[in-house]
Amino acid sequence: MTRSSEIPADSAPNPHATAEQVEAARHDSKLAQVLYHDWEAESYDDKWSISYDQRCIDYARGRFDAIVPEDVIRELPYDRALELGCGTGFFLLNLIQAGVARRGSVTDLSPGMVKVATRNGQSLGLDIDGRVADAEGIPYDDNTFDLVVGHAVLHHIPDVELSLREVLRVLKPGGRFVFAGEPTTVGNGYARALADLTWNVTIRAVKLPGLGSWRRPQEEIDENSRAAALEWIVDLHTFDPKDLERMATNAGAVQVKTASEEFTAAMLGWPVRTFESTVPPGKLGWGWAKFAFNGWKALSWVDANVWRHVAPKGWFYNVMVTGVKPS
Ligand SMILES: C[S@@+](CC[C@H](N)C(=O)[O-])C[C@H]1O[C@@H](n2cnc3c(N)ncnc32)[C@H](O)[C@@H]1O
Repeated sequence: MTRSSEIPADSAPNPHATAEQVEAARHDSKLAQVLYHDWEAESYDDKWSISYDQRCIDYARGRFDAIVPEDVIRELPYDRALELGCGTGFFLLNLIQAGVARRGSVTDLSPGMVKVATRNGQSLGLDIDGRVADAEGIPYDDNTFDLVVGHAVLHHIPDVELSLREVLRVLKPGGRFVFAGEPTTVGNGYARALADLTWNVTIRAVKLPGLGSWRRPQEEIDENSRAAALEWIVDLHTFDPKDLERMATNAGAVQVKTASEEFTAAMLGWPVRTFESTVPPGKLGWGWAKFAFNGWKALSWVDANVWRHVAPKGWFYNVMVTGVKPS
């Protein structure tokens, strides 16, 4: 029995995991997912600079268009879409705003995330509903959705192939899935190393005299460290693009395809995000945000136009996969 079957669909978010709960979660990856993501839910959009304006609408749509064939794009929108591991709703809410689907269901294992995603969707005036759901046992009937999407979720799921079989079950025949934002094995190696280096340097630097205003209160740092301990447990997989293709094909999908992106952009992005989460919120201001976004955009351009032609797919940080349920 999976842990999620013990997490009722209407359970309340638990944003402050105790040290005992964190200890219990070391041996229970699904409990770790719930504690970690409930803890993050209310601050997640800020932490990852997620918004529901044109910047993120274009980003989400860009991921979709990068992997989906042009003839499908010409026929948009899909009618009913499902998002697995929706977090705060970043991918599906922005895809609906971008004209990819008319209505959607945002689902996640973490009740805290479902609450925020549903609130975000409602405040945007979108036709959405939210539900706590485990991607390994999707609580919807067969042949329900035209499109299933996910962003940065597959690497958290213990049995990815089982989950893809579930995706194909709830898709209508001819329906498509798109999962983006998954870490490659090589990319995860350099991203983790750069993030750890940034964390260690920043934590030490802000202890220097005169830099007190850049220090976060000790209890926040302790809570961050507790959550960071869970992060190692919730990140279960990294992928080689070929493995993802094999899993999707084994699950029964056809027209399976992968693509990857962000090489030098990830080498900038990870230290930047780690630095942002180490210093007090609001300390960096708009100038920094502009530098981070424009720097990431410029390097993404270099990755797409230069590195893509010379570096193997597996070197890039992000991999995405799409496939279709046979008609
Ligand atoms: C890295 S976050 C990504 C959130 C969002 N998709 C985004 O890109 O901003 C991964 C999400 O997957 C959820 N998750 C982890 N395991 C899951 C599972 N077995 N079933 C459904 N959701 C899961 C977590 O609770 C978390 O909200």
